[in-house]
This record gives sequence, C-alpha cells and structure tokens, in this order.
Amino acid sequence: MNMDPLTLLLQPPVHHPVIPYVCTIFGGLRPGKMILVQGRVSGTANRFSIDLQVGCSTRPRADVAFHFNPRFSSSETLVVCNTLTREQWLHEDHHLCPQLRKGQPFLLLFLILEDKIKVSIEGQHLLDYPNRLPLCDVDTLGICGDVSVQGISFLCRNPFSDGDTEYPLCQPLKLGNVAMATPLSKPLPNGISDGHMTTVRGLASASPDEIIILLKSGDFIPFKLTASFKDQTLLYNYLMGPLWAKPQEIQTPFFLFHAERFFEIRIFSETRGFKLAINGVPLDVFSPPALDLKSIDEIQINGSVKVYSFIC
Ligand code: GAL
Repeated sequence: MNMDPLTLLLQPPVHHPVIPYVCTIFGGLRPGKMILVQGRVSGTANRFSIDLQVGCSTRPRADVAFHFNPRFSSSETLVVCNTLTREQWLHEDHHLCPQLRKGQPFLLLFLILEDKIKVSIEGQHLLDYPNRLPLCDVDTLGICGDVSVQGISFLCRNPFSDGDTEYPLCQPLKLGNVAMATPLSKPLPNGISDGHMTTVRGLASASPDEIIILLKSGDFIPFKLTASFKDQTLLYNYLMGPLWAKPQEIQTPFFLFHAERFFEIRIFSETRGFKLAINGVPLDVFSPPALDLKSIDEIQINGSVKVYSFIC
C-alpha cells in the first residue's frame, strides 16, 4: 500500500485556543481537507480573521493564501477575503454575512478544493475563494482579532467520492460531552440503507488498550472493527452464525492509531458490504455472508476513546 504517512494522519482538535492563535496544519492543505471552526464573535467586535498561510513568519510577514476577515464596523457584517503575497495585499473580495453577528456563536467550515476554498456558515454556503497561491505551500492556520474559539477540527471530506465538491455531512465536535462517553450505543430502529455513511471522530485515550466499533443486527454482528494498541493491529471480523469468522487483518503501512491522537473512521454501507476509510483514506471492503442492511439495529463504540462526533 503506497501512502504518504502525512495523508494518513489527522491532527487532534484544538480546544479553546488563546487568541491570537497559530498552528501547523499537519501535512499542509490538500484538496479534500476541511477545517471546522466553532466560535463566538466578541460582543464588541470590530473584526477578526482566520488566515490560511505559508508558515508563521511575522517579519517579513508570511504569505496568506486565504485571509477570511469578517468586519463589524457597519450595520451589516462584511467578510473581506484576500491574499497576501510578498507583503502586498491583492484585490479584495467582499461578501455580506448576516449570519455572523457580534456576541453570537458560529460554525464555519472551510472545504479545500483543488482550485478554490468553499466556506459555509451554519451548514449554509457562504462563499467561494479561488486559490491564488499554490495550496501545497499552505501549512499554517492563524486566528486573530475579536473572537473566542471553542474548537478547531481538521477533517476529511467523503473519502469514497473523489470528485465531490459539495459540503459533506459535518457536525460540530461535541467537545467534552458526557453523552459521548463510551460504551456508546445508538439504536437504528429502521436499519440502514444502501449508501449509508457512519462517521466516528474521536481521540484515543492516553494509555489505550483497544477501540472497537460494532454494527449489530439482532444477535448477529456483520461488522466488527478492532484496533488493538497492544498488537498494533487493525482487524475486521463478523458473527453471522454460531461462531465468529476468522479475523481479517487490515493492512496499512503503519498502525493508524496513536495515544491522544485524533482519528476519523468512516463506514460506508452498501448492499454487498462495508467500505472502510480511516483518516480520509479508503482501506478495505468487507462482505459478510447474508448481509441485510435493513436488519442492522444498533451501532456501538467501545474502548479507550473519547468520542467527539458520531454520525450514523
Ligand atoms: C487591509 C487591512 C488588513 C487586511 C487587508 C485585506 O486594509 O489592514 O488587515 O484585512 O485589508 O485586504
């Protein structure tokens, strides 16, 4: 399996950063990455900005590929977008953004595409910004100004649809939510249908043992994924009769989970089987015998993990 390790790693979410805040984007920006910013505009805000930039130099100032700059000085919120290169601003794009208001919370999603960055607010499209500098050079996120930030997460869009340019299903991360403590179970009274996506985002604990995800169908378990930290293995297994099948080891260039590291697991269910992707990279397809998606009635997450988001 030929994979660049950096494409396999997602970075941990950032909680309540002190503003101004600057951090490295692991592996830089690539098409398909998403950055989700959960925050609140200060009550007396004048402006704030979220910058996708090339390094973090202040003198001379690092190039900024995408400067996203809401301004609150007039009655209507104006978002100014621009690019800084060789310390010169290029021409500005202006967008009205009534959804961003002083004192109010917001959820901004930046979806990185080959030729542009799409921005949504509260799940609704806000603007497109063309990539004026090479994406591959952008490796730093900077946030400054009159804003408080609850969380920043670095995600991947649907790994199974390459050409997808629309915003994927994306929930805010439920940071520190006790309702997300494991074992976590969600009943699925109507079963699941062809094309159903399950997404689990979480952080492995400090001394993890294993992480297990089960899709159950009454007494049967058509999907069991076990990440064993002790053995450094990732196993798929199913129980569709009296005995468990022989576990199938999922081959990856290295063990994809690490203590205190964020991960994203996606299971795409189809009539014939389950496609698995971890951290945005499609892995194997599993086809247990006599699979009936409609009869899947529960999803469970167990083990050494703090779950931040569970979409099923
Ligand atoms: C300037 C402002 C900069 C930046 C830029 C964007 O007027 O001083 O901070 O926002 O506009 O074009």
